[in-house]
Amino acid sequence: MSKFPSDKPVLVTCGLPYANGKAHVGHLRTYVPADIFVRSLKKQGQEVTFVCGSDTHGTPVVVNAEQLNITPTELVQKYHKHFDETFKDMNIHFDAFGTTDDPENHNRTTEIVNKLIENGYTYPKTIEIAYCPKCDRSLPDRYVEGTCPYCGENARGDECDQGCEKHLEPGELKEPKCTICGGAAEYRKQEHFFFKLSEFKDFLLEYLEGMGGTLNARNYAIGWVKQELTDWCITRNLEWGVKFPGYDDLVVYVWVDAPIGYIAFTEEWANANNEDWEKFWKGDGRIIHFIGGDITYHHCVFWPAMLKGAGYSQPWAVVASGMVKIEDKTFSKSRGYVVWVGEDYLDHGFHPDLLRYYLISYTSHTKELNFSWKVFQEKINTELVAVFGNFLYRTLLFTHKNFGEIPPGEIDRDVLDNIESTIANVNAPMEEYEFKKAVDSAMALASYGNAYFQSNEPWKLIKEDKAACGKVVANCIQIAKALILLFEPVLPQKMEEAWAQIGMSDDVHAATYSDATVLVNSGTPLPMPVILFEKIEDDKTEDMAKIASKRVAGAIAKESGTKERSGKVKEMEEKTNIETKEDITFDDFSKIDIRIGTIVTAEPVKKSNKLMRLEVDIGEETPRQLVAGIKETHDPEQIIGRQVVVLANLKPAKLCGVESRGMVLAGDTDGAVLLMPEAEVAPGTRVR
Ligand code: 2FM
Ligand code: ZN
Repeated sequence: MSKFPSDKPVLVTCGLPYANGKAHVGHLRTYVPADIFVRSLKKQGQEVTFVCGSDTHGTPVVVNAEQLNITPTELVQKYHKHFDETFKDMNIHFDAFGTTDDPENHNRTTEIVNKLIENGYTYPKTIEIAYCPKCDRSLPDRYVEGTCPYCGENARGDECDQGCEKHLEPGELKEPKCTICGGAAEYRKQEHFFFKLSEFKDFLLEYLEGMGGTLNARNYAIGWVKQELTDWCITRNLEWGVKFPGYDDLVVYVWVDAPIGYIAFTEEWANANNEDWEKFWKGDGRIIHFIGGDITYHHCVFWPAMLKGAGYSQPWAVVASGMVKIEDKTFSKSRGYVVWVGEDYLDHGFHPDLLRYYLISYTSHTKELNFSWKVFQEKINTELVAVFGNFLYRTLLFTHKNFGEIPPGEIDRDVLDNIESTIANVNAPMEEYEFKKAVDSAMALASYGNAYFQSNEPWKLIKEDKAACGKVVANCIQIAKALILLFEPVLPQKMEEAWAQIGMSDDVHAATYSDATVLVNSGTPLPMPVILFEKIEDDKTEDMAKIASKRVAGAIAKESGTKERSGKVKEMEEKTNIETKEDITFDDFSKIDIRIGTIVTAEPVKKSNKLMRLEVDIGEETPRQLVAGIKETHDPEQIIGRQVVVLANLKPAKLCGVESRGMVLAGDTDGAVLLMPEAEVAPGTRVR
């Protein structure tokens, strides 16, 4: 029995991206599975609405706009357009994609906040607010940094983002500092408004017991609610945002109007389609939120309490995705461990559906997902190309060549049973948000198809018994039809092409799983098939990995370039005893071949405490092997991709048994300090 009866419409939402930066793989980890889930429910015949939008308010946006010297409106318009386009490019199809600055959201937020006030769930309180005397302004949320009172790590005003991840209330941060001028902030008294979250403890405990979704979300939330619930300060001193009713100098905290965006976007969809938004938010339609695991508290504690307090329905399920790593490193934009959807993926000609497949089939939704170009290549080549693509292409090519159309032939009971059980094996895990299991089940049908084709040897039968061969082929096309429907949620664009290849002229996106066992029509002409999944070659992924290492190298260079000259540097300057050498002529100098190179390999020399073996691309056919005395000071992984300065025509020498054909130049100080170019240049660039 399906968990999703057809009389209960489903609303799926995705955590709203902040409209202040570009889309990356971390975002897709939530949006792609949500889109796949929506498409798959539709394939089961379910009515589903899918909404999202840009999160435009709050200090992340204001701080960024201020740094770029543009208005928040200009900033959010730019990124809203970017997200809208990127989602479309990735075949993520929302029924509405609004912004939290839309009038619908301002109005709905005002209405809900007024309801909370009316129902007695808010109260004013004078609290300490961080204030910068130098900038002469209040410092809400990201305008202030300091020490987390719970774990002692560096934290932002509203969140311990580098430590215990706790939500922080205004005034909680220790040693506050202004993020605009870097000066010490002080706390000043001010009146703000609070939401009585603490009154919702019993409600939340009962609600969370019945809340669906992934267990990580539910269990964390129950743990937090059992501990202690502190009331939330829901106002901020900002110009940009939704005004707190009756106070011109206050806006509501971004985490109030952002989730209300889910309602506003449903209203936008309803208005455009003559539909009813209340069937979800005031009725018993099912609301399913897909979110990143880091915003579980907001969605499972704060948001349901707010909805309850204002008389709205609460989410039926919360599905929280695990973290994303990049090449086994913690995701970090500033350190270069990021894959941008546009410039690192789509702009290089990779098909969106391949990344969708990788993201859904890598691991279970709640576990950590590692993005690695090598694994990406392997999965595409060994699964999509070698199994699924191979089955479709060999079936269709053989049929096209030998019959030109779908031949007549009875479909085996066994084949139909297999299709039916695969649909069940896809639906059951899908309903439990076990997307990997669902897609693996679909892939198992492709393996079955390959085995069917192989064991029936149609290439032999065609010579002996054309009718028997036609039957085998018709069965294979029936399997292909089922596969296309089963993979449409994951690979929507590719499956549109495949659907046409099996001679279907209707809309594959509107077709349902029940069509999978509708018998294929003999006599349907089949066009010459085109290979749907091409093998990804090594050089392509190697190039991508190089781009990624360069980004990391750039981030390291940027970081070291911006560091202030420390006291230690000054102390060393005083100690340096500069020994002047004899003058040389330009001719002498021109004998030296100095070049910029990029480190491609780095590994410690086992027998030595000091030496590291490097391979450096200095513009020659193969990288140069060099040995450098940097083992104690440099981590091999961290320097791959970095550019260095190489003396290329130094006579080769063996160091600890390893040949060095040149020398990496470094400042001769306590620990080696590698020289690097000011900007990235082509390997082999000469130094003059
Ligand atoms: O953490 C974030 O990226 C937020 N912009 C998510 C908001 S989701 C919602 F509640 F609106
Ligand atoms: Zn902390």
